[in-house]
Amino acid sequence: MSGPASYDLLVFAAVRAIDPALGLDEVVDVVVEKGRIARVGRGAATAELRSAQGARVIEGEGLLLLPAFVDLHAHLREPGQEYKEDIASGLAAAAAGGFAHVCAMPNTRPVNDTRSITEAMIARARQIGGPALHPIGAITMGQKGAELTEMADLKDAGAVAVSDDGRCVTSSAVMRRALEYAATFDLPVIQHAEDHALTEGALMHEGAVSTKLGLRGWPRVAEDIIVARDILLAEATGARYHVAHVSSRGAVRILREAKSRGIKVTAEVTPHHLTLTDAAVIGYDTACRVNPPLREAEDVAALCEALADGTIDAVATDHAPHSPLEKDCEFAEASPGMIGLELVLPLLLALVRDKSLPLGRLVDALTAAPARIVGLTAPSLREGALGELCLIDPTARWTISPERLRSKSKNTPFLGKEVTGAVRMTLAGGRVVHEAETTSSQRGAN
Ligand code: DOR
Ligand code: ZN
Repeated sequence: MSGPASYDLLVFAAVRAIDPALGLDEVVDVVVEKGRIARVGRGAATAELRSAQGARVIEGEGLLLLPAFVDLHAHLREPGQEYKEDIASGLAAAAAGGFAHVCAMPNTRPVNDTRSITEAMIARARQIGGPALHPIGAITMGQKGAELTEMADLKDAGAVAVSDDGRCVTSSAVMRRALEYAATFDLPVIQHAEDHALTEGALMHEGAVSTKLGLRGWPRVAEDIIVARDILLAEATGARYHVAHVSSRGAVRILREAKSRGIKVTAEVTPHHLTLTDAAVIGYDTACRVNPPLREAEDVAALCEALADGTIDAVATDHAPHSPLEKDCEFAEASPGMIGLELVLPLLLALVRDKSLPLGRLVDALTAAPARIVGLTAPSLREGALGELCLIDPTARWTISPERLRSKSKNTPFLGKEVTGAVRMTLAGGRVVHEAETTSSQRGAN
């Protein structure tokens, strides 16, 4: 990828444009002029426009044009662990994955629990000029679970939510105060739902596979207990509560019931929890060590159904880069997490193809739904909207390999897997921030 490029005129001719928020799924021409969507419609790509000086024309036959994606949950490791990832490499990976917005979790070194860190992260991202970065501040100082952060300051500095992700806020009293405080300025509170008392020393999902492998298990109930408690607290406080990386069928059931009672709760699921089970751990591949752990087929089915029916609002990557230092070791020593920003689209298009997930719902779960949760203007194909879109080739086949990934870390169990579906181009903030290869002719320009 070269740096962000601006075009005065970008024309997507005869592309299948999909934007569920507009009820749009049609083959049309889409014209982006000076970074904004100028026209959407049949015949919008007039001969005159196509031949205009400097116009970039992309023949869209067989391609999809979608609003660009919004990730609610990525670990970009800057400040402090830039050997795993930094804001530049993380945003390059995001652009390559189709994202225009990335929310960055606060478990950096130091933890993002103060205004100055939030501000520094945003300033660094602006310098780079790729997808927009939206920091998530910590709920508690140092993510230690005790003293609340100055959430008003964090919000004022640009934080879009608070979370102690990586750790759970286990104290009911602290969680109650966090929800009450955050509610005073409508900041969402994102919980990493894990009762640590039930998961001490756990390396994978607790079940038949963990027993067979002799690895200590992380029972589903450790997640379910926290989700159930937090929903009661959210109901009592009226706060906006969001569950990170839902992994268990029990949590799905509790969420469904809470939503039916009108409680302000939202949830996300990761591509890996939608596509892998604990059986992936059988070879002791440390790339499969992730928190929460990969669960069983019934959980995967429940997550997929919940995503399809909207019980789970959004897809989030939980992009968690780790270097060989943390992964080329024994399973028990490995840090949990896998990368995801560049793999979401091909992994989840497979669910669309096998009819587990409607394409429109997948697009919503990657765009409008996550934007709504953290209060961002959703990328849109509406005329007049800022150019934030991605061009997809749904039939391109490619093999996931370290060389193809922009992320500094390559920790994914999907290396070597052949997938179908590729992001050809991403626009963020009105500019081209990623382009896979030349797919068009550019007239009159150098
Ligand atoms: O697998 C995970 N990795 N889960 C988390 O909650 C944290 C993350 C990380 O920071 O690596
Ligand atoms: Zn995380």
